[in-house]
Amino acid sequence: MKTSITELFEIRHPIIQGGMHYVGLADLASAVSNAGGLGIITGLTLKTPDDLAAEIARCREMTDKPFGVNLTLLPSVIAPDYHGFIDAIIDSGVKIVETAGRNPQEYMPRLKENNIKVLHKCTSVRHALKAESIGCDAISVDGFECGGHPGEDDIPNMILLPRAADELKVPFIASGGMADARSLVASLALGASGINMGTRFIATKEARVHDNVKQAILAASEIDTRLVMRPLRNTERVLNNPAVERLLEKEQNLGDDIKFEDIIEEVAGVYPRVMIDGEVETGVWSCGMVAGLIHDIPTCKELLDRMVSEAEALIQERLAGMFKE
Ligand SMILES: Cc1cc2nc3c(=O)[nH]c(=O)nc-3n(C[C@H](O)[C@H](O)[C@H](O)COP(=O)(O)O)c2cc1C
Repeated sequence: MKTSITELFEIRHPIIQGGMHYVGLADLASAVSNAGGLGIITGLTLKTPDDLAAEIARCREMTDKPFGVNLTLLPSVIAPDYHGFIDAIIDSGVKIVETAGRNPQEYMPRLKENNIKVLHKCTSVRHALKAESIGCDAISVDGFECGGHPGEDDIPNMILLPRAADELKVPFIASGGMADARSLVASLALGASGINMGTRFIATKEARVHDNVKQAILAASEIDTRLVMRPLRNTERVLNNPAVERLLEKEQNLGDDIKFEDIIEEVAGVYPRVMIDGEVETGVWSCGMVAGLIHDIPTCKELLDRMVSEAEALIQERLAGMFKE
């Protein structure tokens, strides 16, 4: 397939693996890139710029294809050393950065001076237009279905993607709820030039997470996610479990008075316990509604090959067939 996204990132298939805390490590990123997509290492999972540089080097040992680094710009009191992480990215020669969380304007001059292509992930058309205006090369449009942070507007991709297509000049990819050839073809029809997947890539052989996490995704259906932290305007879509139910009860009881400290037990330090130790019920962790479409644990290559060949059949047989006599 050839789209403006495959051209921009010099990849074979218009399929990208979004940054995922404690999931997007070199093993997964290199496997996605080797399979013809674009793998992305999650910058903040590595604790320091040196650790990130080492992870990039490890990825480069496993693939000679392009891959990127995700920089999630968190609204935190003590900000991570973003400039240090950007130094590590520049020094290591990585040419694609996925930004998310908030507007990357502050970091754009250094990224652009170093010929780094910026893919900004956002959840609304107005944020996408802002990203375009500050020089982002492409946008990842995350619909309400997505695992992680869907924003506060709650617009599903069936509306959000054609709205983005009507407004944006730069290419964009569809993110949230993407699992298979049907998602890919539908997204292309709605105006996107490719797709981004999160949850689907967790349930692959190369994702270096505990098997309990993969099994939890396989066991889940589309009705098993919940939205947490809405009263804090930091909404996150997560897989339901007893800790999530406890947190939602606190939100209900405390109402608008709720503070981050009230839910720290369910939220803080959860990712290593879930992803490494496999304690999937210990707290809240991101998962998309798309879990309902995930029924196997293929290799990244099996997944991408299957998606692209089924997409071709879908377009050339099912859809084209509708126009035949
Ligand atoms: C476990 C998990 C962790 C994630 N961590 C991050 C992150 O650190 N930074 C980020 O920008 N997006 C993160 N995301 C969002 C994904 O990159 C992607 O946008 C989202 O999963 C797309 O929705 P889907 O899960 O329906 O495919 C995460 C998603 C999941 C499922």
